[in-house]
Amino acid sequence: MASLCTLLGLCCLAAPLVLALPPFKSQPEQVHISYPAAPYSMVITWTTFNETESVVEYNVWGGKLFDLMAKGTSTIFEDGGSEKRKLYVHRVTLSGLRPGSAYVYHCGSEDGWSDIFYFTALNETTSWSPRFAVFGDMGNENPQSLSRLQKETQVGTYDAILHIGDFAYDMDEDNGRIGDEFMSQIQSIAAYVPYMTCPGNHESAYNFSNYRNRFSMPGDTESLWYSWNIGPAHIVSFSTEVYFFLDYGVDLIFKQYEWLKRDLEEANKPENRKTRPWIITMGHRPMYCSNDDKDDCTQFESYIRIGRNDTSPPAPGLEKLFFLNGVDLELWAHEHTYERLWPIYGYKVFNGSADEPYVNPKAPVHIITGSAGCREKHDGFIPEPRAWSALRSTDYGYTRMQVLNHTHLYLEQVSDDQYGKVIDSIWLVKEKHGAAAWL
Ligand SMILES: *[C@@H]1O[C@H](CO)[C@@H](O)[C@H](O)[C@H]1NC(C)=O
Ligand SMILES: *[C@@H]1O[C@H](CO)[C@@H](O)[C@H](O)[C@H]1NC(C)=O
Ligand SMILES: *[C@@H]1O[C@H](CO)[C@@H](O)[C@H](O)[C@H]1NC(C)=O
Ligand SMILES: *[C@@H]1O[C@H](CO)[C@@H](O)[C@H](O)[C@H]1NC(C)=O
Ligand SMILES: *[C@@H]1O[C@H](CO)[C@@H](O)[C@H](O)[C@H]1NC(C)=O
Ligand SMILES: *[C@@H]1O[C@H](CO)[C@@H](O)[C@H](O)[C@H]1NC(C)=O
Ligand SMILES: [Fe+2]
Repeated sequence: MASLCTLLGLCCLAAPLVLALPPFKSQPEQVHISYPAAPYSMVITWTTFNETESVVEYNVWGGKLFDLMAKGTSTIFEDGGSEKRKLYVHRVTLSGLRPGSAYVYHCGSEDGWSDIFYFTALNETTSWSPRFAVFGDMGNENPQSLSRLQKETQVGTYDAILHIGDFAYDMDEDNGRIGDEFMSQIQSIAAYVPYMTCPGNHESAYNFSNYRNRFSMPGDTESLWYSWNIGPAHIVSFSTEVYFFLDYGVDLIFKQYEWLKRDLEEANKPENRKTRPWIITMGHRPMYCSNDDKDDCTQFESYIRIGRNDTSPPAPGLEKLFFLNGVDLELWAHEHTYERLWPIYGYKVFNGSADEPYVNPKAPVHIITGSAGCREKHDGFIPEPRAWSALRSTDYGYTRMQVLNHTHLYLEQVSDDQYGKVIDSIWLVKEKHGAAAWL
């Protein structure tokens, strides 16, 4: 051995004075990143099955690999299944990042390191034009859009990904192993750009514990509701599920509502709305849809839209709150289809004008994009579109969004079934934002 070592010229490398465990249960996996809503920062999250330190080694692209180091903490997540499997979820916040610079990193500990990944620190000005991939309802089986998203993400097509609920189908299954498998599948996109989420109905097991423990969204609600700023946009993510899983606490509806109200009021302060004019919401179950299943938006009055009167006290819905606060765009999923609506409030269409419905619209615009692909396959539509439905597609796919500047926002729908063809696109143009824009 000594001679081989000399032969390879390796002996001059100082051997670290640690007796390393073979990286097996201590091997990092399921690496993903998120923006903590603190400027110049990024959170790196991963999983091990044994307790280890939580370390990220990194540096700017082109610099000496791993010259910088940050440490974080891990929490034990015990899955609710019969095996009570234990995962160590590690979180490290990188701060003081240089906006617009690419960083190379790996994460883990002396007991095992991940592959090498890279990300670009977000530009912190309000004058840039962030680009997003947006979708919901992606499973570990049949995630049809994933390969296209992998390539596009890795070549830098997106600055962030918005996954609007329903992961893995379902993360808790097989004692959480389906969650592990899914989080490993999305590493190919989620380790490269902030992967921002909200909960869906498929996360409900054990009070959403797989969702709350595996993701690391901003704020202190265990990723259930939060907001963040990017470029000229303020993005508000919330849980539609608080309206459905009352056993986990009716109070959550009210807590979230009060938080949404305060957050939207803050975002509407003139100095804030002036610099970040776009307010975009994301929540899983839509207020409107024209699908042919038995969901809230098809057969019943949507709880999300008008609230519930069978709780005590009655729980307020969100349509009016969003309207009064001048929310520009509402992104939804849950239906495994794509549907674009004309500007709408209270079932009435409020086009900007007959020729240009999305130029200075007089009500929020809704997009439902839940067709990324999962084992439940497609949903269908009722034969006749409603008067408020502008375009519908049952193709698998996802949405691209770019917030160009203070007045222009671009949306397009990609069909994976048609090999990446763009099957819909709109410009949403607003010279005025806020409730005053509706007048
Ligand atoms: C790693 O975790 C397993 C349980 O998953 C445990 O039996 C084992 O003792 C742990 N090993 C170390 C070195 O901590
Ligand atoms: C951020 O974006 C703005 C607008 O595109 C650009 O002028 C600026 O140079 C960018 N900042 C960095 C650090 O890349
Ligand atoms: C469910 O989780 C939420 C968020 O942690 C918590 O506020 C709530 O009390 C939990 N509900 C139950 C019934 O444990
Ligand atoms: C309660 O809400 C339902 C819709 O969810 C509605 O049909 C019903 O009329 C409401 N009842 C009262 C008393 O407001
Ligand atoms: C809104 O605009 C679209 C497209 O021009 C049109 O088809 C629809 O009828 C308009 N709706 C109303 C209520 O004006
Ligand atoms: C915003 O972007 C649109 C589309 O590129 C462009 O036509 C418009 O002039 C831009 N507005 C400003 C103020 O830069
Ligand atoms: Fe769903």
